[in-house]
Amino acid sequence: MEELARELNRVAATLHHPERPFVTVSYAQSIDGSIATRRRRPLPISGPGAMRMTHGLRALHDGILVGIETVLADDPQLSVRLVEGPHPQPVVLDTRLRTPLEARLLKGENGRPWLVGAMENPQDKVKAITAAGADVLPCRREENNGRLDLTQTLRLLHKRGIRRLMVEGGARVITSFVRAQLVDLFIITIAPKLVGGLQVMTAPPNGSEAPMALTEIHYDRLEDDLVLWARPDWRDP
Ligand SMILES: NC(=O)c1ccc[n+]([C@@H]2O[C@H](COP(=O)([O-])OP(=O)(O)OC[C@H]3O[C@@H](n4cnc5c(N)ncnc54)[C@H](OP(=O)(O)O)[C@@H]3O)[C@@H](O)[C@H]2O)c1
Repeated sequence: MEELARELNRVAATLHHPERPFVTVSYAQSIDGSIATRRRRPLPISGPGAMRMTHGLRALHDGILVGIETVLADDPQLSVRLVEGPHPQPVVLDTRLRTPLEARLLKGENGRPWLVGAMENPQDKVKAITAAGADVLPCRREENNGRLDLTQTLRLLHKRGIRRLMVEGGARVITSFVRAQLVDLFIITIAPKLVGGLQVMTAPPNGSEAPMALTEIHYDRLEDDLVLWARPDWRDP
């Protein structure tokens, strides 16, 4: 963990994006690339050491972002509990404000979550979720697929002081960040399990058949798991 933390601090210090945070994508997968069951049921994929590492990584970021399907499937708290450290600001990509009013995130110890939603959400919906404990950040949608525009999302987060963002999932959110080339560092825990479940990449990373390469690759063993950290190589393969 110390070496990984040093590397994260080093890369984050050398990369300066004027209008967006430094983005780490971090998730746990089985050796067949699954991050959950096929029915999106939560699955303890990695071991306790990797779980502690994840909490340690959260504490090194100002914000932690997931997609609404992860909130609906896992009801996560997105806080730092297994190690000492500050809680990052929770952020959910939630176009239509589907976050349940009883979600644990709304009652959590790490402040009011920010729900990034579409511009056109009705005021009564915004009021209800605001009263339940979240702040809504209206955001533009992409013209081609109607999804929240990630460049604008990151700009909104940067304006609110987020300088390091950890993107934890799920599959569709990770795929969108990769396809938009908005990732600075990958930290991937690979557990020696076969799941045959929800694949982390829901579409080709480049929009073509060509695989995307990683560079500056490090591997570390953590109990039975393998932790890989690397930078994306956006050049054409
Ligand atoms: N193993 C791990 O490390 C790990 C970590 C996290 C999650 N998970 C698992 O991942 C599963 C959920 O993954 P998922 O792929 O179904 O959903 P997801 O990535 O959590 O959420 C996807 C949803 O986010 C919203 N969204 C808004 N803007 C988006 C954008 N630009 N790109 C992508 N999504 C956008 C969309 O819903 P709206 O249109 O309604 O906004 C979209 O359907 C769960 O089973 C969870 O357990 C595993």
